[in-house]
Amino acid sequence: MTSDHDSLALLGEALRSLAEGFVRLPEASTPLDRGPLRDALLAAAERLRDNYPYHHPLYVGQMLKPPHPVARLAYALATWINPNNHALDGGRASSAMEKEAVAQIARMLGWETHLGHLCGGGTVANFEALWVGRELRQGGAVAASAQAHYTHSRLSAVLGVPFRSVPVDAQGRMDVGALEKALGGGEVGTVVATLGTTAAGAVDPLPEILALRRRHDFRVHVDAAYGGYFTLARGLSAEARRAFDRLVEADSIVIDPHKHGLQPYGCGCVLFRDPSVGRFYRHDSPYTYFSSDELHLGEISLECSRPGAAAVALWTTLRVLPLDRGGEFARGLEACRQAALMLHDALARDDRFAPLCPPELDIVAWAVRAESATEASARARKIFDASAERDLHLALATFPRVMLEPAAPVRRWDADEITCLRACVMKPEHREWMGRILARLDAAASACLGRPAGV
Ligand SMILES: Cc1ncc(COP(=O)(O)O)c(C=O)c1O
Repeated sequence: MTSDHDSLALLGEALRSLAEGFVRLPEASTPLDRGPLRDALLAAAERLRDNYPYHHPLYVGQMLKPPHPVARLAYALATWINPNNHALDGGRASSAMEKEAVAQIARMLGWETHLGHLCGGGTVANFEALWVGRELRQGGAVAASAQAHYTHSRLSAVLGVPFRSVPVDAQGRMDVGALEKALGGGEVGTVVATLGTTAAGAVDPLPEILALRRRHDFRVHVDAAYGGYFTLARGLSAEARRAFDRLVEADSIVIDPHKHGLQPYGCGCVLFRDPSVGRFYRHDSPYTYFSSDELHLGEISLECSRPGAAAVALWTTLRVLPLDRGGEFARGLEACRQAALMLHDALARDDRFAPLCPPELDIVAWAVRAESATEASARARKIFDASAERDLHLALATFPRVMLEPAAPVRRWDADEITCLRACVMKPEHREWMGRILARLDAAASACLGRPAGV
């Protein structure tokens, strides 16, 4: 882990600059006894070794992407004053930075006006969107695809709203015919379109979902927690491009800077197209909101205390990497997708594997060929372990038969789903590392299954 230790010098410089803003105050720092701090910190470092190497390109398991060095530094810098973005009283500068950063995300999605804020992550962000949907469509159900994040059915239960799971097609996208049927009953109040499903990175057909809105009265909420930033990327499939180009017509959108936005965890974002939904958040607080009549973020957010540091980190990252098509940030996403296509193509040429449809974003999933579905799942688990022994960290994900059948991974379907191998190649370096990743996968598969045919 060579990391960016040198950049710590920049943090010192930034901290000195921050301190200059407060020089007129009498000295109030308490002397530090470094000994116990050092012991505790080194003990923490040792404990943290017990992790998968999330930061390393050989980790392609779950959705984990190292924060940008500047995000790390800016977050640390802000903790010296530890602002609270609940209210301007607790985080004046960082609240302004949050509003600016969120407006940049809204603009990327096509919105010049919006209501939005940062929050703990995709779950809280989706919760707020579904809650506003419930307030606007009283009694209406939430419909989301069977590949949508499980949080939607769970949040619907928390909100006391019925939930309808809509089947998916072979690409893992919401089946629009099935959605139309579900809408027929007139009970659906909010349809969740996922642009970048968690398991396979599938992109729901947003244009077709929006077309249904002309005939049925429902809100469209887009869960782009994972995939949202890909709207900046060139080279998407025509269908995915069409979906991203219609984001502007959604009623609400969730996007997680802590997934592809290079932020430390604790940074989700919810946006509403109609700023007047802020009325649902209205509350009185006898404790806060004294310092200004301007909007305090706590007045439009369900969470109260929130880390101003998260906003500072995001704002600073956006200074270095603005959300421009063709810019450095967008090129990073394009590299991830190219890495995913390289991986998919290599798997498709290897007759031990049966990849699902080509990746829409940068998540690749593949079954291990076998006589039966149960055996294919068992083989995937073995290769998962054998890869980890070779320092290649993959993930496992179970997919339904409908998504697997086009690849014909088995002769006998003794189960309706198969546990597959899955890789989130979400670091731009994965493109350069793909040869080494494939070599380790080959070694692991060969150890479990024997050599590939013809080798
Ligand atoms: C599409 C999607 N929505 C929502 C979530 C939940 O987000 P979080 O884990 O940040 O709460 C995830 C997480 O993976 C996701 O992929």
